[in-house]
Amino acid sequence: MNSEVPFIKVEHLTKIFYPAKSTSVLRRKSPQHAGFKAVNDVSFEVKRGEIFVIMGLSGSGKSTIIRMLNRLIDTTEGSIVIDGKDVGALDPAGLRSFRNETINMVFQHFGLFPHQSLLDNVAFGLKVRGVDKQSREAKATEALRLVGLGDRTHAMPDQLSGGMRQRVGLARALATDAEILLMDEPFSALDPLIRQDMQQLLIELQRNFKKTIVFVTHDLDEAMYLGDQIMVMKEGRQIQRGTALDLLETPADPYIEKFVAEVNRSKVLHAGMLAEPLAGADHEDGCRTGVRPVSATTNGSSRVEHVNGATIIADLLPVFAAGCDRLHITDEQGLVIGQLTANKVFAALSPKESVK
Ligand SMILES: Nc1ncnc2c1ncn2[C@@H]1O[C@H](COP(=O)(O)OP(=O)(O)O)[C@@H](O)[C@H]1O
Ligand SMILES: [Mg+2]
Repeated sequence: MNSEVPFIKVEHLTKIFYPAKSTSVLRRKSPQHAGFKAVNDVSFEVKRGEIFVIMGLSGSGKSTIIRMLNRLIDTTEGSIVIDGKDVGALDPAGLRSFRNETINMVFQHFGLFPHQSLLDNVAFGLKVRGVDKQSREAKATEALRLVGLGDRTHAMPDQLSGGMRQRVGLARALATDAEILLMDEPFSALDPLIRQDMQQLLIELQRNFKKTIVFVTHDLDEAMYLGDQIMVMKEGRQIQRGTALDLLETPADPYIEKFVAEVNRSKVLHAGMLAEPLAGADHEDGCRTGVRPVSATTNGSSRVEHVNGATIIADLLPVFAAGCDRLHITDEQGLVIGQLTANKVFAALSPKESVK
């Protein structure tokens, strides 16, 4: 399938909440019945395999959008087309299979069932979808292996630390068959260290499972680190849509500029975001990095150490400080996808004001 065709296409989405006893006559006559516009003319597209982040303060309409995507609530105006299907036009049977097969909502607390093993917890979503025992256990075992708990499949939740339980919850969310995951502030209640661990894990798991993820957060750092695309919301309206770099380099208005000013750029920007095309035959000419093995691979000759695109810039600063002027960036398979120059890194780390 053509990955350039938007998988999710939302046009002019609006949601007005009316008071309980409002009727169309009252709505026209009385301002109290006019309703509240929680989402106001929002349009966006998400490509297959992308992490699309909706970011905004509490009350800006994020959850309302995400609930309209799986039709937990109906739209007031606008359209949502997912994988070519008009979500608003699905009949009850169509909606059931859409929710079973295509889209899966992940709630804030990954509550595990206390009396079920990790394996049964992770396999639960697949069981509900009618996947046979053998396949669901194979998939759940693989998901647990990927979150570092492959040897604990028969453990019970209370034998794990809080952070480990979160990992199991994430494994469960990603192990389902649904292509689209809707995640509404899943990490917001976690303490900062566990939260960072979960963000990194999500990126790592995403490389394996290749879901299409709509992720809601009120935290700009989280939005920038995770998002291939970020949509910033304010009072029901979208005020900017773009990559983390777009927001940093050309904030659309003072509101975003204020947010961006407080971001620790070296911790939210990845190497992959700043990579540039590599010129001709100079693949051997990069610096050694000494970066942790999880994010560094060698190209076989062991002369050049390559850096995985997901590595945050903060981890690479020592290499540049030691005199390196460019590094090679690789994809998940270790293929060189570009280069990262010291100039590009320093420019990206410099807030605009400092070069005025
Ligand atoms: N069912 C509802 N009835 C009335 N108002 C609602 C309802 N759900 C949400 N709202 C209002 O819509 C606005 C956006 O809510 P929400 O989408 O939950 O924001 P966010 O997820 O960004 O915090 C808020 O002002 C909220 O009070
Ligand atoms: Mg919300």
